[in-house]
Amino acid sequence: MDSILVRGNGPLNGVIPIAGAKNACLALMPATLLSDEPLTLTNAPRLSDIRTMTLLLQSLGAEVTGLQDGKVLAMSSHDLNNLTADYDIVRKMRASFLVLGPLLARAGRAVVSLPGGCAIGARPVDLHLKAMEALGADLDLREGYVHAEAKGGLKGAVIDFPIVSVGATENALMAATLAKGTTEIRNAAREPEIVDLAQCLRKMGAQIEGEGSPTIRIEGVDRLTGATHPVVTDRIELGTYMLAPAICGGEVELLGGRIDLLGRFCEKLDAAGVSVEETERGMKVKRKNGRVSAVDVVTEPFPGFPTDLQAQMMALLATADGVSVLEERIFENRFMHAPELNRMGAQIEVHGGHATVTGVEKLRGARVMATDLRASVSLILAALAAEGETLVGRVYHLDRGYERVEEKLSACGALIERVPSP
Ligand code: UD1
Repeated sequence: MDSILVRGNGPLNGVIPIAGAKNACLALMPATLLSDEPLTLTNAPRLSDIRTMTLLLQSLGAEVTGLQDGKVLAMSSHDLNNLTADYDIVRKMRASFLVLGPLLARAGRAVVSLPGGCAIGARPVDLHLKAMEALGADLDLREGYVHAEAKGGLKGAVIDFPIVSVGATENALMAATLAKGTTEIRNAAREPEIVDLAQCLRKMGAQIEGEGSPTIRIEGVDRLTGATHPVVTDRIELGTYMLAPAICGGEVELLGGRIDLLGRFCEKLDAAGVSVEETERGMKVKRKNGRVSAVDVVTEPFPGFPTDLQAQMMALLATADGVSVLEERIFENRFMHAPELNRMGAQIEVHGGHATVTGVEKLRGARVMATDLRASVSLILAALAAEGETLVGRVYHLDRGYERVEEKLSACGALIERVPSP
């Protein structure tokens, strides 16, 4: 297993291009299953999770090819010859469950493996299943698989989610595009990835309104067509690299950065003493003064502070002046990076869903272990600001969600390299 070696060496200055959003792309790709015409995605990120979704779609009979420099994904689901999403692929990546809605809507049947455990909590799929049942599907759970059937097709319905779920909203939205009649999704997720998916589905001929608000209305159509769609900017990659000059000093311009994608994240950066300025190409980020100040953070659905930036924000607050409290409200057990940051000299105490971070003047390099995707990048951020060398192990997590991390950070002056496993 590869590791990443970082030598903390002060301020970062330069330009970082932000890729297309992993999470948007993972929802857009299954939309190909809804149509027998080609769907082409541009600005797709080059990540191992995208390769996993490619393998899953190919296993169902879809053609998926990457073109040009790898940013264009051409897909066609003209001939679907398998309606079973196998455990071996689904267990690797929870987003695989997003094929359920499109398969049911297009073919009236689907067999999808349950995703199984996950490092950041139980993460059930009950809301996805509730949505499919509301649309008229019969479900049977056998031997770790959901067997779903909609004889005579799906029917429009009111789907009222008890809690906000990004994935369940996406599954329901895709399924409803081909259901007979009107569907209303209440308490829908409002994340930019949902808006991006709705925009793409509309290009394919779907009738959707209200995306980005808590109520989405879909009028089912008989068939969807092909389309070409650019994947929205990755707000989590953007937020992560915005934190690099915040934690190390210097000034970094993020190409393609958009403040409207960041919700309350920008407010918290401002309160901590980080300046964000829009430019023609994106945005520039730097500290307003010297050391950043402590701020309290609560993770919430969009436009609240994203759970996917909580670990990275903790790395920043580990060196802030004062005591910060971070509250994780989306996923239980998502503080596994805290003990690793403590190995680097941070002072973080975790009690249930709260972490109390007492800022220290300086972190120190150490050997640490990545436990999940966002945790791994938080350790890299901390290492950039630490004294001495840090070796981050198990970086395969990182490759799921960040393309060319070493290249992007080295271009701004960071001393960072990948150390292949012996
Ligand atoms: C997506 C993102 C993930 C992000 C998360 C929250 C993708 C591929 N992943 O994950 O990076 O951290 O949104 O912004 O887009 N829940 C249930 N039952 C369900 C579904 C969810 O109880 O059927 C719960 C979850 O356990 C969690 C909360 O709902 O506590 C929100 O999860 P959800 O928004 O569904 O996350 P994902 O779509 O899996």
